[in-house]
Amino acid sequence: MSIELFVLGAALLAIASIFVPTLLTQASPLPTSAAVRQTMLALLPEHLDGPVYELGAGWGGLAVALARRYPATPVQGFEVSVLPWVFSKLRQIIGGQKNLRFHFGNFQKADLSAAALVVCYLPGPAMEKLKPKLEAELKPGALVLSNTFALAGWQAVEERTAPDIHASRVYLYKVS
Ligand SMILES: C[S@@+](CC[C@H](N)C(=O)[O-])C[C@H]1O[C@@H](n2cnc3c(N)ncnc32)[C@H](O)[C@@H]1O
Repeated sequence: MSIELFVLGAALLAIASIFVPTLLTQASPLPTSAAVRQTMLALLPEHLDGPVYELGAGWGGLAVALARRYPATPVQGFEVSVLPWVFSKLRQIIGGQKNLRFHFGNFQKADLSAAALVVCYLPGPAMEKLKPKLEAELKPGALVLSNTFALAGWQAVEERTAPDIHASRVYLYKVS
């Protein structure tokens, strides 16, 4: 009986650890699909002159792909939901990408001033909150790559439609 209670408690805790951050950030840890990931990577330049920040890294799949794409570039993922963050840490340890780090916490507290590339998959309200931070901190030439959700008032330098069932749009911006 006590083992059953323990398992039930652990399951409820795991659900709450995803549900509560989702309520607070208005972003669930839904991962970017493989098709959209390929479309995003295809928009990026061959080389980057500075670090990559993934804001809301979820389970880490997109950050791992970015770290593999740019092995000489530091890639930093930020995630506020504990279970996806633990999963992404394990993924990094097992995968052994030396240029990849996952931080637990609110990306609003990260300093983005050195970023060559910021990547996100955040719904509209979260993008609205992020926009003034990007405008205040990113240097000229920095790139912003977004899955599905556009930055209102910004002009994309490239847009593509991914070959997934949602025909997801992908947006690339360059800070001027
Ligand atoms: C839709 S998921 C995207 C996951 C991953 N970027 C991907 O594309 O596969 C959005 C993630 O952003 C996280 N998130 C939202 N706001 C955040 C914040 N202020 N700080 C850190 N993580 C945040 C959520 O917890 C969620 O896991």
